[in-house]
Amino acid sequence: MQIMVKGGRKMKMMLLLVLQIVVAVTAANVTYDHRALVIDGKRKILISGSIHYPRSTPEMWPDLIQKSKDGGLDVIETYVFWSGHEPEKNKYNFEGRYDLVKFVKLAAKAGLYVHLRIGPYVCAEWNYGGFPVWLHFVPGIKFRTDNEPFKAEMQRFTTKIVDLMKQEKLYASQGGPIILSQIENEYGNIDSAYGAAAKSYIKWSASMALSLDTGVPWNMCQQADAPDPMINTCNGFYCDQFTPNSKNKPKMWTENWSGWFLGFGDPSPYRPVEDLAFAVARFYQRGGTFQNYYMYHGGTNFDRTSGGPLISTSYDYDAPIDEYGLLRQPKWGHLRDLHKAIKLCEGSLIASDPTITSLGSNLEAAVYKTSGTCAAFLANVGTKSDATVTFNGQSYHLPAWSVSILPDCKNVAFNTAKINSATVSAAFARQSLKPDGGSSGELGSQWSYIKEPIGISKTDAFLKPGLLEQINTTADKSDYLWYSLRMDIKGDETFLDEGSKAVLHIESIGQVVYAFINGKLAGSGHGKQKITLDIPIDLIAGKNTIDLLSVTVGLANYGAFFDLVGAGITGPVTLKSAKSGSSIDLASQQWTYQVGLKGEDTGLATGDSSEWVSKTPLPTKQPLVWYKTTFDAPSGSEPVAIDFTGTGKGIAWVNGQSIGRYWPTSIAGNNGCTDSCDYRGSYSANKCLKNCGKPSQTLYHVPRSWLKPSENTLVLLEEMGGDPTQISFTTKQTGSSLCLMVSQSHPAPVDTWTSGSKISKKKRTRPVLSLQCPVSTQVISSIKFASFGTPKGTCGSFTHGHCNSSRSLSLVQKACIGLRSCNLEVSTRVFGEPCRGVVKTLAVEASCS
Ligand code: GAL
Repeated sequence: MQIMVKGGRKMKMMLLLVLQIVVAVTAANVTYDHRALVIDGKRKILISGSIHYPRSTPEMWPDLIQKSKDGGLDVIETYVFWSGHEPEKNKYNFEGRYDLVKFVKLAAKAGLYVHLRIGPYVCAEWNYGGFPVWLHFVPGIKFRTDNEPFKAEMQRFTTKIVDLMKQEKLYASQGGPIILSQIENEYGNIDSAYGAAAKSYIKWSASMALSLDTGVPWNMCQQADAPDPMINTCNGFYCDQFTPNSKNKPKMWTENWSGWFLGFGDPSPYRPVEDLAFAVARFYQRGGTFQNYYMYHGGTNFDRTSGGPLISTSYDYDAPIDEYGLLRQPKWGHLRDLHKAIKLCEGSLIASDPTITSLGSNLEAAVYKTSGTCAAFLANVGTKSDATVTFNGQSYHLPAWSVSILPDCKNVAFNTAKINSATVSAAFARQSLKPDGGSSGELGSQWSYIKEPIGISKTDAFLKPGLLEQINTTADKSDYLWYSLRMDIKGDETFLDEGSKAVLHIESIGQVVYAFINGKLAGSGHGKQKITLDIPIDLIAGKNTIDLLSVTVGLANYGAFFDLVGAGITGPVTLKSAKSGSSIDLASQQWTYQVGLKGEDTGLATGDSSEWVSKTPLPTKQPLVWYKTTFDAPSGSEPVAIDFTGTGKGIAWVNGQSIGRYWPTSIAGNNGCTDSCDYRGSYSANKCLKNCGKPSQTLYHVPRSWLKPSENTLVLLEEMGGDPTQISFTTKQTGSSLCLMVSQSHPAPVDTWTSGSKISKKKRTRPVLSLQCPVSTQVISSIKFASFGTPKGTCGSFTHGHCNSSRSLSLVQKACIGLRSCNLEVSTRVFGEPCRGVVKTLAVEASCS
């Protein structure tokens, strides 16, 4: 017995020792030098991507992280969202989509590092830039400057997060994945507006962060004066020209915008992958060692989290992984190839500084050479003409605005403009809303409704003379604020003249106003900064009510003093007589205010109330109606979206979870879109736009994990007036159509290289067109187009050029049909010689089923 006890103790001690050794082994020492972040004494070439955890669900995280890893990322970057973690002062939330610890642990589990951008100001198109709105009401507070109340709150939250990470042993210094933390965000872009206090605030931020002793480096982005040892990093569409503020700091890029965000009322921005890859390759060519895609997965602004004004609910961002978690191809695949090519150069990149030489006008070579290794990047930064350059005695074809990567200084592993990954179509499959239990066939019988009262209906309404600023009044507890006025019109007043109506003039600073006269909607308007309305109205002799509903659509998140921009009806508000021109001021009158809607207080969002009316006919095209229905989940496991076409604007909930604001009637302007956007030349947020003249967003993501097979509740608060029976569901399908063009001048697939930066002799070194059905159960069922020669057009509209090998189609069919994937060497050896002296291309469009 005794021996057993002794033995047990011994075992325990040994176990403890082993554990200690494991910790000692896995804890990493992260530092930096002028070339790179240094992890355990070794410089690292790192590729990072942003995924903001609350913009997807914990159920989606493992798949998103795996897809990031498969795409060649080493690091996941995320902001920390203060407003989500501390919605009320001292009441913390780290659950569900805000389970930061879980998210960081999942990244670690996949073998990825984490860059934690604590901020706590984050911008991010997030409501109020990530600040909780209660912060605004802290006495004496001034945001983002040398102000004691602000600094105390910032320090408290930052410490809270660092402590939590430490407690969970998530810093690399403790064996966790976090190799870097960020304090503040792009303050350098706007700090001049804060005067001299900006300098001391930044110094304080740096020393406060350092005092938290994370054991890993800190960065400040877009902060040229970031004090040592904070690493100042670059954000932008290009950062190859950036240099850090000290010779001892590495060149790092914290936000490479993979696309751009969408606003309600705007067309959809997209960034061609050739340009994105070019920007990345240029960065590593010119000495960069860490870059982060902002965003790698953008996701969704659920609930009321979107920033403003007017940021849409979708935060797709044209990222390599789309809003729904599906790969966006060829963007994801082309970047994966790029990452592989860069990693093939890692040995040379970390061992030396580049030697940069000119190869001609707009042509540049960078060589990273040590005694044993050599890697080169060849760039054509010209925007018009392709070039053929001579490098080390060999000639290389460089398309305009492209970079070739030569991991052995000889063979091209990758060119940013030559895509070896197929375009995969994406399709939404429409499914009608399947109501369960709805036996009566009558239109609308599956819907029930509750009318939200127009004007004041809550007991906490209050009187105030003059017009109140909205955020100060609502504290952002709701999007809605009623401004209500009762006025007596005597029979003889000019406002009652037949034929010439009175005009109600309203000025607001955003973002939506509805004007109701005597309970009827008389007019409405919306705008980003300023709304001016002149609404002809009918008044009656005696008592009249003017009820103005002001609605915010995301609080401002960017710019100096963004927190003070404000919202709501600022005035003037006047009543004008169209006939006499006389007017009376309403702004200074005694208004009654109501914060939020009655239905918000009574919890209609869950659908549980006993007040739902299911009588027909269902009221449609009327403002301020709550609607409810139950439905079966669309079959299958594909991501789900609701198509809100037919409705106006509002907020929607599925099983009590807010899927965000919907606004399908917000239409993008007609200008600025291009059919095909030339990737060559500097990109900017409005260079490549699509969807002009169409609704900015009709589809709204409903995460699968929020759905049950049946008996799901959908609740809508429709403010404008719409017909909910037109709502339909769609599932986003990974497309079944593949298409790709590979020319004889394309590099061989990057996979033909072994990690030792040697091109495998055994494998093919010629260009190869590879196709693979994205769904593992599918095979290539038909070849819609195939031509080896000079095919023209783009995916979906290929046509034959003057040169075409007649064997193209039959050869491709033979090689591909019935298989999940196939590889075709792009050469005359396979296809014969259709036209001598011409560089030929193989274009294929295939279908999977
Ligand atoms: C940056 C900011 C990010 C994000 C981005 C635009 O200025 O740091 O948080 O707002 O712009 O998407």
